[in-house]
Amino acid sequence: MALSKTGGSIMKQDKRYLIEYWQYLKKHRLLLGLALLLIPLLSFFNLAQPYLIKKAIDDAIIVGDMALLQVITMLFAGCVLFDFLSRSIQVFLFQYIGQKTVQDIRADLFQHVLNLSARYYDKTPLGVVTSRLTSDIESLNESFASGLVTLLADLLTLIGIVIVMFLLSPKLTFITILILPPMVLVVNFFRIKLRAAFDMIRLTLGKMNGYIQEQFQGIAVLQLFQQESRSIQRFKVLNRTYKHATLSSVTYDAMLYSLIDSLNSILIALIIWYGWGQYVGNMVTLGVLVAFVDYIHRFFTPLKEISTKFAILQHALASLDKIFSTFDIKDYIYSGDQKIQSFEGNIMFKSVSFAYKGFEDKPVLSDVSFSLKKGQLLALVGPTGSGKTTVLRLLSKLYDGYTGQITLDSYDLTTLQLPAVRKLIAVVNQEITLFSQSIAFNITLGNKAISTAKMIEAAKQVSIHDFIMSLPGGYDYCLERGDQSLSAGQSQLISFARALASDSPILLLDEATAAVDSVAEAAIQKGLDVLLAQKTAIVVAHRLSTVQHADLILAFNEGKVIECGNHKALIQRDGFYAKLFNMQFAGI
Ligand SMILES: Nc1ncnc2c1ncn2[C@@H]1O[C@H](COP(=O)(O)OP(=O)(O)OP(=O)(O)O)[C@@H](O)[C@H]1O
Ligand SMILES: [Mg+2]
Repeated sequence: MALSKTGGSIMKQDKRYLIEYWQYLKKHRLLLGLALLLIPLLSFFNLAQPYLIKKAIDDAIIVGDMALLQVITMLFAGCVLFDFLSRSIQVFLFQYIGQKTVQDIRADLFQHVLNLSARYYDKTPLGVVTSRLTSDIESLNESFASGLVTLLADLLTLIGIVIVMFLLSPKLTFITILILPPMVLVVNFFRIKLRAAFDMIRLTLGKMNGYIQEQFQGIAVLQLFQQESRSIQRFKVLNRTYKHATLSSVTYDAMLYSLIDSLNSILIALIIWYGWGQYVGNMVTLGVLVAFVDYIHRFFTPLKEISTKFAILQHALASLDKIFSTFDIKDYIYSGDQKIQSFEGNIMFKSVSFAYKGFEDKPVLSDVSFSLKKGQLLALVGPTGSGKTTVLRLLSKLYDGYTGQITLDSYDLTTLQLPAVRKLIAVVNQEITLFSQSIAFNITLGNKAISTAKMIEAAKQVSIHDFIMSLPGGYDYCLERGDQSLSAGQSQLISFARALASDSPILLLDEATAAVDSVAEAAIQKGLDVLLAQKTAIVVAHRLSTVQHADLILAFNEGKVIECGNHKALIQRDGFYAKLFNMQFAGI
């Protein structure tokens, strides 16, 4: 009962996804109609050819009517020409519609996943997103252009052939049909085997891709810890499995094809043997016999392809499911509808508690409260994993689902439009992201509103201008491998310059200078003092020397604020912060 229910819902789901797919196909319905109209035409030109041969033999050659033979030859040539033309146009049309549709779906899917929340990406490997946008969509197209439609044409041709054969000679047709049951058994057997082999190929290929990606992402660690031989061993196992799967699919494929070919030959021999008796007994004409041999040949050609096409179709249904179920994921951050007219720069957290989705029993923030006025600097300090980055994430609306209240001026964060919030905030994350583009792009992110002068000023403020100028091409220097092309400190300074150039009234710095030496950090600090006076800023820093001048310091431990105040007050208090500070100071 439960099984049939599941099966039922899967069918329903498939149907729904097919309807969604149709929404894309529908835009090209005129071309689609034309291409579909060509199918019976194509079958007709195909089927007419053996019949014309029969006519030529029986009515022209045997009788010696050369004039008729000429007419039939012309007709035959016409059939071949139209067969060729309609087939070419049809293939082109289906490919064209398929590619156009794929282009639209891919663009929509890209936009869709681009807007999904950080929560979705926490639990989705990037490889999955990549294959949705590339191979899955491609296989959908493949199935459409070469699977589904040609399958229709094949079926129509098969039915047509049987009808024409029956009209020519019911007895010979009966013999032909006798071969069908063993044929179905053979094809089905190999279809199952082939499907298993294809699944194995895809599974191993996916594993191999993932493995290669992971190994080369960590290539430096791998080489330094001398893990190359172990890495090769594991790769060899995957490579061998892949070879086995591919070889078995090739073997089954070859066996299927040659078996069908043999059955084809056997059937032709049978028809000639039996048909000859019929011919001698004047039951059929020579022309019918010749036409039959030709029809049987044409009968077997689509049969050979049908099993492969079914596999492609099954593949496509799986892709359809994967693609449209990704469209079904609505893991967006709830965006309110309120805009911000003018922003003063006040931030307030009121009893905010939060746990990441899937870890509800492990609160990351508990009852966090603070308030910041325009131009103030708040520092968050505390041990690793205490929740500092999470505070910045909530404020940037990367995650929602907290309890308590976060306000920007008097606006409740949840009611604010997402773009409105993001416009107010510039961030330097703990993980640096630079793109494989020019330095200028990496600072402005292509935002035309940021002038070159502004960009250079930002770079100067974080003391990275001189370094950029030393690169060939200066700001136009293209980073070949994103943040891998520069030192950790340099990458960090560039993303720092990005935050400053954006001119947002709120600045969030998460360990923004952790990879920079103390001399550069002191220089940046000096440059920033003026700038920060006009911005409301929250900084997270492990190096407590950098937070001493903050207006307010919150010391976090296990998601709770255990102390707050300015540096002087906290040192006087001689508690958690003072202990951390003294420990670091003693360590220097
Ligand atoms: N995306 C996530 N999904 C689930 N749990 C998370 C996620 N990000 C962080 N956590 C958990 O939340 C807790 C707080 O993480 P957070 O990144 O806020 O700490 P942090 O104070 O910034 O630490 P660090 O100083 O190391 O940067 C940690 O225990 C972490 O394991
Ligand atoms: Mg952090």
